[in-house]
Amino acid sequence: KRYFALIPAAGVGARMAASSPKQYLPLNGVPMLQHTLEAFRRSALIAHTYVVVSAADGYIDSVAPEGGVTVLRCGGATRMDSILNGLRAIRAEVRDDDMVLVHDAARPGLTPALIAKLISAVGEHEGGGLLALPVVDTVKSTRSGALETTPRDGLWLAQTPQMFSYALLLRALALAPDPNAITDDASAVEMLGFSPKLVEGHPRNLKVTLPTDIAIAEMYLGQDSK
Ligand code: CTP
Ligand code: MG
Repeated sequence: KRYFALIPAAGVGARMAASSPKQYLPLNGVPMLQHTLEAFRRSALIAHTYVVVSAADGYIDSVAPEGGVTVLRCGGATRMDSILNGLRAIRAEVRDDDMVLVHDAARPGLTPALIAKLISAVGEHEGGGLLALPVVDTVKSTRSGALETTPRDGLWLAQTPQMFSYALLLRALALAPDPNAITDDASAVEMLGFSPKLVEGHPRNLKVTLPTDIAIAEMYLGQDSK
């Protein structure tokens, strides 16, 4: 099997509210996206990495992706659109049964060991799979008006990478009804009736979303990783 990485990096980082998109903010002096790309560059399992940025992106050249990375300037209005555009852009370079690992640019703490764990745990599972963390807090819902508590057992927080065959992922995202409702790739695959495999991830693979996440990411990035 061949494994390709597809990294959506076309967001604006509204919740971070920084002066540049968050994927270019320095973490321990190195742009976030460069840390993210480094995990794939260090992994011996990844054949090639594609990164999707917006057409107007003025930062990607300074991140200067080294060999083994192709920049696709086809970002869309939503995360799902960016990934779908990226998948269509690489159509001629991949086969239907190649595996695609979609990974947020905003998760710079990924390691080659987590990539290897995902690939080996998912194996030939037809619905693909994803890294995720068991929920440790008690979960409250205000959705129905009255406060409700959802038992946390059996609840997981989805991380990335999320890995599927090229053909399955393209079909799932192309058929998904509402790009804004699709905040991860597995949910689109689930809508086709597949059950992606959950593989336990690691807290260091957090998604950097809010300003308070920066210090946490820098702490993990300062630790040795394989
Ligand atoms: N992303 C993308 N294209 C979009 C929106 C998001 O490629 N139109 C990417 C982001 O760059 C990020 C990943 O999807 O790497 C996860 O999205 P998120 O954490 O929500 O990033 P942003 O959308 O940039 O942040 P926010 O929602 O706070 O604006
Ligand atoms: Mg977003």
